[in-house]
Amino acid sequence: MHVIAPSILSANFAKLGEEVQNVIASGADWIHFDVMDNHYVPNLTIGPLVCEAIRPLTTAPIDVHLMVKPVDRIVPDFAKAGADIITFHPEGSEHVDRTLALIKDSGCQAGLVFNPATPLDYMDWVMDKLDLVLLMSVNPGFGGQKFIPATLEKLRAARAKTDAYFERTGRRIRIEVDGGVKVDNIAEIARAGADAFVAGSAVYGAGKDADPHRYDSVIAALRAELAKT
Ligand code: DX5
Ligand code: ZN
Repeated sequence: MHVIAPSILSANFAKLGEEVQNVIASGADWIHFDVMDNHYVPNLTIGPLVCEAIRPLTTAPIDVHLMVKPVDRIVPDFAKAGADIITFHPEGSEHVDRTLALIKDSGCQAGLVFNPATPLDYMDWVMDKLDLVLLMSVNPGFGGQKFIPATLEKLRAARAKTDAYFERTGRRIRIEVDGGVKVDNIAEIARAGADAFVAGSAVYGAGKDADPHRYDSVIAALRAELAKT
């Protein structure tokens, strides 16, 4: 029920294939794939070619987080490259409903991402097209930032919306949180309503001195915290 999605942003890019396989072998559920364009956010990362390269290495879902503007041009490329989930920021698209439909029509699950200051209202009229919502608990652009505490209140508000939707329709929309998630705050974040947890520096930072890089103990520690909720 709880999904742990390590962000490969904090992986060793010189050994990316191994890093993906090791983190899944260590017990992670999804691969979180951060796409930055040096336009919507002030950093530049990886694109569809890298997604395509890691796709054959794992059967775990690839969770593509698009921090790009515009969004639509690149969506089919990620679908072809093997993405399972594609999320984007409403500020990156002129037509949010259309972009969600484009992702679904490409055969992927779709989600909206909310920056710390972005109101949740964007989700209200597109619930039928949402498979998940992603709440940013840092400003997007970099790994290793500190969790913004106001996210907890926002998670409760988002959860109230998805619970009400579930009551009406029987369909569950996942709530994912991204930024500053660690062993010492994941339980509190889960209690506030999240059920999918992105962790970049917390996971990849923990294994970087081991040879080979293994992440079993940090992932077990995250799960042990979740089990307390
Ligand atoms: C930030 C990215 C995050 C980031 C999380 O823009 O979307 O996925 O890599 O990294 P940590 O867990 O280190 O905050
Ligand atoms: Zn992300």
